[in-house]
Amino acid sequence: MNHPVELGKDEGGAGAGAADARRDAEDARPGAGHDSDTARAALTALRGEVAKTVVGQDSVVTGLVIALLCRGHVLLEGVPGTAKTLLVKTLSRALDLDFKRVQFTPDLMPGDVTGSLVYDNRTAEFEFREGPVFTNLLLADEINRTPPKTQASLLEAMEERQVSVEGLPRPLPDPFVVCATQNPIEYEGTYPLPEAQLDRFLVKLTVPVPSRDEEISMLQRHAAGFDPRDLSEVRPVAGAAELAAGRAAVRAVHLDPKVAAYVVDLCRATRQSPSLQLGVSPRGATALLSTARAWAWLSGRDYVTPDDVKALARPTLRHRVQLRPEAELEGATADGVLEGILAHVPAPR
Ligand SMILES: Nc1ncnc2c1ncn2[C@@H]1O[C@H](COP(=O)(O)OP(=O)(O)O)[C@@H](O)[C@H]1O
Ligand SMILES: [Mg+2]
Repeated sequence: MNHPVELGKDEGGAGAGAADARRDAEDARPGAGHDSDTARAALTALRGEVAKTVVGQDSVVTGLVIALLCRGHVLLEGVPGTAKTLLVKTLSRALDLDFKRVQFTPDLMPGDVTGSLVYDNRTAEFEFREGPVFTNLLLADEINRTPPKTQASLLEAMEERQVSVEGLPRPLPDPFVVCATQNPIEYEGTYPLPEAQLDRFLVKLTVPVPSRDEEISMLQRHAAGFDPRDLSEVRPVAGAAELAAGRAAVRAVHLDPKVAAYVVDLCRATRQSPSLQLGVSPRGATALLSTARAWAWLSGRDYVTPDDVKALARPTLRHRVQLRPEAELEGATADGVLEGILAHVPAPR
């Protein structure tokens, strides 16, 4: 059912159910006990809310929700103008989360991301001025345009969920999720993230150019007066409480030992693939299991299936493997190699 590439495509009805889910979500906030079903309905309603501004890109929305449920960070890869900014901004509004955007430029300094100590004349003391990482949803635009030192400051904050200044740790808000964009075409003058850093992103989502029909419908919306700068139509249908309830429910998703073994077999197969010079790390295996469980819960189940694992294998593993130069010359891609592995490694029944 869950075709590996079409993550989220088969889970229809989000638009139609949005109103109900919104009502449920409102009833449930705040304080009133958040059960798993209410949280799922609210998070499913996000899809309908995001669709008010973004045409299509369902898989990307689902991937982002999964990342939020797993408290993981996201690499978003797509050519400019495919609504990456619009999507993340809309999602933060629909989730009632704080949003900030940083354009990563060659002259950006670590302090521009994390914050810095500034001298206050009145008190004659140094005060910490929070940088843009102090937010819930951070859009790190064109992360590979900034030199390694500044990249490292963001990656450290991502990993530790805190910023240390002068030895004093300052915790970041919860949730804190980074969506870092990369342009797949431009390599000139960029600083590719090292493999060890890529491994810290839970998923890499590719943002495709919309289909012909989707692009036409986008144009019609614009012609009818849609203004991407005005997101006032987008309602908060879920929030931090639903994410927390969802997270708790995901932790309760049952794991059959055979499914755990399947995840490991897939990861081990990447380490043995003749097309790859670097396979998936054990961290990657834990990532795949987490995203598959979140997807199982979003799909309305309390157990994870091999199909859940298959559905998440590409977004969760594609940035954690490295092609051999020969394979790359022959036109191999990470997704293609992973597809081959999914076809060959026997799935438990
Ligand atoms: N799928 C889409 N649905 C709706 N609008 C879109 C879509 N793709 C592109 N657009 C339009 O193109 C604009 C550019 O999108 P933007 O979010 O800035 O792209 P990116 O961040 O990927 O460069 C949007 O504001 C919107 O008007
Ligand atoms: Mg943008």
